[in-house]
Amino acid sequence: MTNNWIAILDFGSQYTQLIARRIREQQVYSEILPYNTTAATLRERQPAGIILSGGPNSVFAENSPLCDPKIFDLNIPVLGICYGMQLTARVFDAAVKAGTSREYGHTTITVKPSCKLFENIPEQLTVWMSHGDQVAEPPPGFEIAATSKTCAVAAMRNPAKFFYALQFHPEVVHTQHGTEILRNYLFKICKCAGDWKIASFIEESIASIKRQVGEENEVILGLSGGVDSSVVAALIHRAIDKRLHCIFVDHGLLRYGEDKQVKELFEAKLGMDLHVIDARERFYAALKGVTDPERKRKIIGHEFIEVFAEQARKFRDSRFLAQGTIYPDVIESFNPHGGPSETIKSHHNVGGLPPDLHFELIEPLRELFKDEVRAVGREMGLDSQLLDRQPFPGPGLAVRILGEVNAERVNLLQQADLRVQEEMSKLPDYKDIWQSFAILLPINSVGVMGDQRTYENVCAIRSVDSIDAMTADWSRLPWETLARISNRIINEVRGINRVVYDISSKPPATIEWE
Ligand code: XMP
Repeated sequence: MTNNWIAILDFGSQYTQLIARRIREQQVYSEILPYNTTAATLRERQPAGIILSGGPNSVFAENSPLCDPKIFDLNIPVLGICYGMQLTARVFDAAVKAGTSREYGHTTITVKPSCKLFENIPEQLTVWMSHGDQVAEPPPGFEIAATSKTCAVAAMRNPAKFFYALQFHPEVVHTQHGTEILRNYLFKICKCAGDWKIASFIEESIASIKRQVGEENEVILGLSGGVDSSVVAALIHRAIDKRLHCIFVDHGLLRYGEDKQVKELFEAKLGMDLHVIDARERFYAALKGVTDPERKRKIIGHEFIEVFAEQARKFRDSRFLAQGTIYPDVIESFNPHGGPSETIKSHHNVGGLPPDLHFELIEPLRELFKDEVRAVGREMGLDSQLLDRQPFPGPGLAVRILGEVNAERVNLLQQADLRVQEEMSKLPDYKDIWQSFAILLPINSVGVMGDQRTYENVCAIRSVDSIDAMTADWSRLPWETLARISNRIINEVRGINRVVYDISSKPPATIEWE
């Protein structure tokens, strides 16, 4: 890594990841580090700039998170945002006023055009504020760079030392010219080159995989057919070719045709060493008679590890295990309620392998956000059908078959789900839909077909809009689409005679039914 990057110290703001993304969008690499990262560490890693993020705390609170004050002695430009600004003021002994009420929302500020941060930006602009405390007076060496009606110091600077601080959030879309403000910081103040590109990421990543693996070692990878593991496979394959062995466990709970698609793409088209393990019978046997959702999940997780471990033992010469861990999985996020907490899920794909299998991990995507992973895949020639795939749960269709899971019910749901996919993908805004799928209910209902009375399965359709799966709302699908899905399932899938649409939001419902 060159010193052409920005360190973001995380004080627990809901916007910290957004800052990182906004910077990367400007082709400058950025990394989120714990708030208490020492000046010594930063001196060693030499970022071009340091950003102190916002946070939910007050600098007056007893255990409020503080940065190492020596980071201001590194001769590196520092930008404090919101809490980061109050912290800057505190480090330099300025007066910070405890807020009597929180200021939240749009505010108009007037900026000093002579301030480098605000170059080529209108003098008045609307910004997004979200704070309680505010800086009453800039500390010695600093001067006011922007004001608003309610906030005398909406921004401040110490241009001699390249310290800047904003009371508002330039990273959120509600702040006018927020991108320009960040660009001014990156390019005019920190002098970043702006040459961090997906193509250079791919090159560097391939070189680093080659270095890590060496000339002879082998790597195994659990391929799930999802975006992350597919992109990892493509990268490692490009680096070490047939020394990568991909293991794809078919647990019999996949969507219709998924096993064939994986074979076609990774084996036939990309020429990888792919081992498709048909473990369907084993999973169905373990799931026989089980209806409790949590037990299903546990059984599937357990069987998956067993099958994968059995296969992995066949590759005794492999020293490495590759995983599709991505950046949101590894960020050590600061938890304002319980002190710093680690949310590292270092084995999130093949969690808990037995101790006799001690692989070294390779995680080439650990620095990327999901959309960047997709961009890498695109640049490497993976097709958009795979890259834009909707999330699919690890336990697969088992959590969409209420009641017992068996081959017959999996087949029924696959057929219904296929019709949902076919009709949904015709929608022009299909890409904006988070997930859409069918669920097989554990009840039969009466119907009439021709002159015959039927007594068959009921299937539900779920389609949701979401940003991060934490909350979701049901999609307002066109009636025609719902009508076509319903007609096709009832007419074409024998065994289902009724279709219903799920109109529950999350919370209180969840996206999956189990
Ligand atoms: P829920 O049902 O909790 O789902 O609202 C939130 C998101 O997570 C996915 N999901 C899973 N993904 N393993 C996964 O890899 C799982 O066990 C699992 N359960 C739910 C779900 O599809 C949705 O996108």
